[in-house]
Amino acid sequence: MDVTAAFDAVAGSYDQARRRLVPCFDDFYGTAVEVAAPPLRAALAAGRTPEVLDLGAGTGLLSLLLTAALPGVRVTLVDGAARMLAVAADGLTARGVAHRTVVADLADPLPAGRYDAVVSALAVHHLDDDGKRALYRRAAGALVPGGVFVNAEQVAGPAPALDRRYDDVWLAQTAARGSDADEIAAARERMRHDRPASVADQCRWLADAGLVDVDCFYKAWRFAVFGGHRPA
Ligand SMILES: C[S@@+](CC[C@H](N)C(=O)[O-])C[C@H]1O[C@@H](n2cnc3c(N)ncnc32)[C@H](O)[C@@H]1O
Repeated sequence: MDVTAAFDAVAGSYDQARRRLVPCFDDFYGTAVEVAAPPLRAALAAGRTPEVLDLGAGTGLLSLLLTAALPGVRVTLVDGAARMLAVAADGLTARGVAHRTVVADLADPLPAGRYDAVVSALAVHHLDDDGKRALYRRAAGALVPGGVFVNAEQVAGPAPALDRRYDDVWLAQTAARGSDADEIAAARERMRHDRPASVADQCRWLADAGLVDVDCFYKAWRFAVFGGHRPA
């Protein structure tokens, strides 16, 4: 089973397990929303509808949080898993959020348009490192001047020993939040598709893609939020 089929298979139950499997859920997603917010607020203040592109959007968790914090934003959600996107579309429609969904691979050209923010959560680590770099270049090129890119991501430790420590901590925190053996085993099965890269490498790739003010804004063990701006 490839990675998008693995997520499609759990589309109906995906959201319920998130707070257990992402122990720092509120700070992690909350930071991503706050990093993305300034150009969106500026567009709204200028009377323009801000455009957001969500890469590997899944069931739309990040898009839902972003549009709840910034009503009036329009989102384009891209994912290879059609059933995950169908869940996202239901949630966004129920909340009256302007959106479109695009079933596509993250290696494909991005949906046409210029975006005030390109955001992503827990998806880019499924690409190999060349794929990540190429996606970061395309994302940077799709931003309006002054637009923001933010990735809330599962990252590799800077050394194998730290990677093992991240995994030990994740396991303990997940179990403490109530994940049982079956849930952890199913997550581990999906994690066979993971190809995480370190924060340092990915911030360098963002700078190589032409973004400025690149920073890691949040990090808790294997969960990190990093991004940058297209120069104004
Ligand atoms: C862990 S989920 C994250 C979903 C959502 N962003 C969130 O924060 O809950 C990863 C998503 O990335 C998608 N994905 C992984 N690799 C992909 C690829 N190469 N092309 C398109 N989508 C991909 C999967 O289908 C899945 O929906």
